[in-house]
Amino acid sequence: MKGIILAGGSGTRLAPSTHSINKHLLAVYDKPMIYYPLSVLMLGGIREIMIISTPEDQPRFRGLLGDGSSLGINLKYKEQAEPNGIPEALTLSQDFIGSDDVTLILGDNIFYGQGFTTILRNALNKHSNATVFGYRVKDPRRFGVVEFDENQKVKSIEEKPKNPKSDFAVTGLYIYDNKAASLAKNLKPSDRGELEITDLNREYLKRGELDVELLGRGFAWMDAGTHEALFEAAEFVKITQQRQGFKLACLEEIAYYLGYISQHELYRKGKSMEKNDYGQYLLEIAKRKYTKQYWDHTDQNPMLGMVK
Ligand code: G1P
Repeated sequence: MKGIILAGGSGTRLAPSTHSINKHLLAVYDKPMIYYPLSVLMLGGIREIMIISTPEDQPRFRGLLGDGSSLGINLKYKEQAEPNGIPEALTLSQDFIGSDDVTLILGDNIFYGQGFTTILRNALNKHSNATVFGYRVKDPRRFGVVEFDENQKVKSIEEKPKNPKSDFAVTGLYIYDNKAASLAKNLKPSDRGELEITDLNREYLKRGELDVELLGRGFAWMDAGTHEALFEAAEFVKITQQRQGFKLACLEEIAYYLGYISQHELYRKGKSMEKNDYGQYLLEIAKRKYTKQYWDHTDQNPMLGMVK
């Protein structure tokens, strides 16, 4: 299974903050936005990951995450010259995907909730042709919307409909089989001039190959694409972290508990940032005695089977 994070686009909805920096490098409270989708792929056990961004921003992502080795993963980078739509992430990555399946996540999507690692790993291990995640929202008109029949089977899927047929938005996390890139190649731009991921999902639906997993009540899914949404996401992260003392999307913590980096490496990383709360947190984990207990408690148990 390969992973792709789409972190391109011009970030117009977040201007002027995005005039000289890519949206996905802005902080969501105490860490860059891209940490959140990257943590999702890591929690899914995916270690081969492509980050797609604009040509200008690529050096900045490299500067932040390098080749991934300090997190025990393998990162590759690809340019998306123009924001031509989400499915282009798949066609641009065709060589990288090779003969594998692929999980695509949008760089501004944040997922948080007890049991998420299990939901994700189950979806990955199911090896169905295409899996998307549905989430009830108050204003579905802003999203891809999925409609179900009485047997919970997907009936339709539409992009930003004026009259939504359900309240279920399709989140920016997509698991596809190997033909996704070739299907994406045949898509035509929509009225807004972009290739639409919803059209790709509709193609899978036509073939009877689209599964939808619902993320239930109490689960948090956010996109941080507007000033309002970014601020709310930051508040959510701050409050959640402060209460329990667990950080969301702490990549080094995940890498450590998954056995990708040693206690010593974690400690060194913590030391390099010890003047702030993030570094202190890493040092605290590196010094903990009963680490496994904490890990089980966060429902990110590495004993859940890894995907290939
Ligand atoms: C995109 C997709 C939409 C999906 C959303 C999730 O919308 O086109 O189907 O529901 O991401 O974040 P965009 O953010 O490009 O408006």
